[in-house]
Amino acid sequence: MQLANGYADSKVLLVANELGVFTALGKTKHTAEEVAQSCRSDLEGMRLLLNALTGLGLIHLRAGKYWNTTLARKFLDAKSPTAITNLLWLLNHHWSNWTDMAVTIKNGRFGWTSLTETPSFRRRFALAMEERSLALGPLTVRTCRMPRGATRFFDLACGSGAYSIALAQRYPKLSGVLIDQSVSVARRLIKHQGFEHRLSVCKGNVFSAPFPKDSDAALAANIFHDFNAQENQLLLRRIRDALRPGGKVFIVEFFLDNTEAKPVEATVFSLLMYAFTDTGRCYSWSEVETWLQSEGFGKFRRHPITGSIGTLEATKR
Ligand SMILES: C[S@@+](CC[C@H](N)C(=O)[O-])C[C@H]1O[C@@H](n2cnc3c(N)ncnc32)[C@H](O)[C@@H]1O
Repeated sequence: MQLANGYADSKVLLVANELGVFTALGKTKHTAEEVAQSCRSDLEGMRLLLNALTGLGLIHLRAGKYWNTTLARKFLDAKSPTAITNLLWLLNHHWSNWTDMAVTIKNGRFGWTSLTETPSFRRRFALAMEERSLALGPLTVRTCRMPRGATRFFDLACGSGAYSIALAQRYPKLSGVLIDQSVSVARRLIKHQGFEHRLSVCKGNVFSAPFPKDSDAALAANIFHDFNAQENQLLLRRIRDALRPGGKVFIVEFFLDNTEAKPVEATVFSLLMYAFTDTGRCYSWSEVETWLQSEGFGKFRRHPITGSIGTLEATKR
């Protein structure tokens, strides 16, 4: 029953995020009336939502006043520097993919919706990726050991650019080109972090944009799950052609084991990608290694990051 009804608890959090409840509560105590007014909402519904949030342990209630827990203040108040409000917005967007899942599986994929192709969606998606990399960026970059003396890399589908910035911080001699169909968030982050002299952005399609020749390394983080096997092999061919011999590619992904039924987080994400993208899903470490081998890469190294996310390192022969 916990599994069957789990969506209701998730939705309490996602609805509160959508209405801006945690941001309205901010750092002080408020009545339900005050929060309903700030969020321009119905008082009865807001009181019930606040009580559910209290029950879930996300906020506190005493003497008719509500206030954020330490966790909510840190991660759920949009004014916090460590907020994940855009990431929760994206998860709430995926709600529609799950709602339509039975129809999708019956009829087959219907692919990217037109909404996902709008500049505003892409921008907010990149902000969500920036928030996701707050926790994952440092752990991921630790798994990317550059070839000795490396000075040039490129980041394929860079998203917010957070991983490239973390790489540039770790390797002071490294410069990079960040390629994505949407680069406004990456451009702002690079400027904000003071890396304009070493990191540049290139707005383009990863299947046609030129990759910098004779690069020492390439980063492909969380992009293979957007595409099918043929498309990913094409990307690997393009990456290989751009790398110098001995150059490395780092593929960061949700990886499956050989049964393709574990780890659970990757199997569930793979199903979501079936509904969210045109052709994507998750792949096993071995399957990606087979593609790498046929595209002229060797010396594979698997670096786990979390229980389901990892970096696959390979070297151009
Ligand atoms: C899941 S995000 C990953 C972003 C970043 N690498 C990270 O791990 O945070 C996938 C990225 O791929 C980009 N993307 C998808 N298809 C693309 C294409 N054909 N050409 C360029 N970028 C693309 C999206 O804009 C998005 O930024």
